[in-house]
Amino acid sequence: MNAIKTGELAQNATQSANITLSQFVESIKQADFKGALTSIEQIWSQVTGWQIFFTLLILAITYDQVMYQIRKGSIAGPRFKFLPFAGPFFQSMNPKFEEYMDKWKSGPLSCVSIFHKFVVIASTRDLARKVLQSPSFVHPCVVDVARKILRPTNWVFLDGKAHTDYRKGLNPLFSKKALEVYIPEEEKVMDRYIQEFVDMSKGGYVQYFLKFREYMCAISLKTFCGDYITEDQIQEVAVNYYRVTAALELVNFPIILPYTKTWYGRKIADETMNVFAGCAQMAKDRMAGGGKPNCVMDNWVLSMLESQNGTSGRKIKLFSNKEISEAVFTFLFASQDASSSLCCWLYQFIADRPDVMRKIREEQLRVRDGDASKPLSLDLIDKMTYTNMCVREALRLRPPVLMVPYMAKKSYPISDQYTAPKGSMVIPTLYPALHDPEVYDDPEEFKPERWVKGGKADLAKKNWLVFGAGTHVCLGRTYVVTSFTGFIGKAVLATDFQHKVTPKSEKIKVFATIFPQDDLYLKFTKRPDPSRLD
Ligand code: HEM
Repeated sequence: MNAIKTGELAQNATQSANITLSQFVESIKQADFKGALTSIEQIWSQVTGWQIFFTLLILAITYDQVMYQIRKGSIAGPRFKFLPFAGPFFQSMNPKFEEYMDKWKSGPLSCVSIFHKFVVIASTRDLARKVLQSPSFVHPCVVDVARKILRPTNWVFLDGKAHTDYRKGLNPLFSKKALEVYIPEEEKVMDRYIQEFVDMSKGGYVQYFLKFREYMCAISLKTFCGDYITEDQIQEVAVNYYRVTAALELVNFPIILPYTKTWYGRKIADETMNVFAGCAQMAKDRMAGGGKPNCVMDNWVLSMLESQNGTSGRKIKLFSNKEISEAVFTFLFASQDASSSLCCWLYQFIADRPDVMRKIREEQLRVRDGDASKPLSLDLIDKMTYTNMCVREALRLRPPVLMVPYMAKKSYPISDQYTAPKGSMVIPTLYPALHDPEVYDDPEEFKPERWVKGGKADLAKKNWLVFGAGTHVCLGRTYVVTSFTGFIGKAVLATDFQHKVTPKSEKIKVFATIFPQDDLYLKFTKRPDPSRLD
């Protein structure tokens, strides 16, 4: 019945279309073309350049708005692009944590459009995980300018099998076994900096934000390059590296103009990679001469040599110095801001909680059998259960990486109701899952005890998105938790540190990762006898 009715309708429509067509042909035959052309010429002669310009502009704005509406579909986001083309570009240059929060709360999926970029934000735990675990639809895009700074040939931009194969070669560099090799060199840096913290505090409270960034950079460089990098080079990279971070805004001007943030960022990156290339050659020479490995470069070169002479049973090609320098730069790039963020919050939270500081100290003495001078080792760190819980709680409460930008390789049906268009940025957010009140009671409180083995937080593995998930999950995740447990334990044993609380201490500043807005006022004093509890 329905089919018959549909057929009749179609026939009627065709008939009426035929009538209209024949009428149209007739009218064309009778048309006065000459007259029409003359009138068009007359109108055209009166049109000014401005009128053409504004017409085109209105057409372009309309196109931009219509495209935005089509891409936005049913998800949350501004009703219109209030600033034509640019959208919230100026806002994105100075991101505010509270604005991110508003965005996450606006819906499980929300969007913004900045210039030609359409950005979809996934805010729930499950949607965030889904994006991170959909390598056939999305690949990481870091931020636009990262490709220019890290060089387009960099391994982090590999996708699919090429990426997985390359990662397999890198994973052993940050395994627990490898960490054992790096700890002695790292401990030397820790000792030096703990002394510097105490010296800096002689006049009272000082802001530690920049000092901690330098500290983290020095530790990382020592871990990656061992003694091949000189103290002067470490100092230079540590001081200048913030320019790389400053260049990494979510959206940048499309080309790098001289003396802009991005120009300085790329310059520092190039200089740092040149230093790393020199270190790689030294590592090759020393390892070929049978030297004992003590840094990431040594371990990497050694695995290449073992693969070449067939002693490891693994196939690894001999990477050039340039390739090694690019890869090691990605380690610094990935670690520097996130580690500095964790360092700031961890010191702040522990200083604010004398009860926590005391428990860490008790544990540190216990695992060292009362001998505070016992050097760090993997075995020792593995016994620091409570200190480890403090590190994990700081990471949960203030996850350094709030969002991880990915790019849709093709149309991506992210939910039953919404498909992200090809080419859009799709950004899973990590923060909401880590503040989920169903898993973390009093989610805004610093409660290391919640991480007790077998407890609700410990079991909720799906919520632990601090280091991402899937094929691109953080390469340094074990290294981070293990080494921070060691660092902070040592600092708590050797020093007393206090925090000057200001109205901005708990407020979050976004600078690639997140930091206390007041740049963290601390005061360190040396403990006269670290082997005593009080
Ligand atoms: C507190 C410190 C750190 C945090 C919170 C952190 C977090 C993250 C996150 C969220 C990702 C993205 C994962 C994804 O897309 O699923 C990532 C990737 C990565 N991280 Fe970390 N990270 C930290 C430190 C480090 C360190 C010390 C290294 C040193 C090697 C490192 C190396 C990497 C690398 C190489 C990637 C890219 C992996 C790939 O694409 O295969 N990270 N990290």
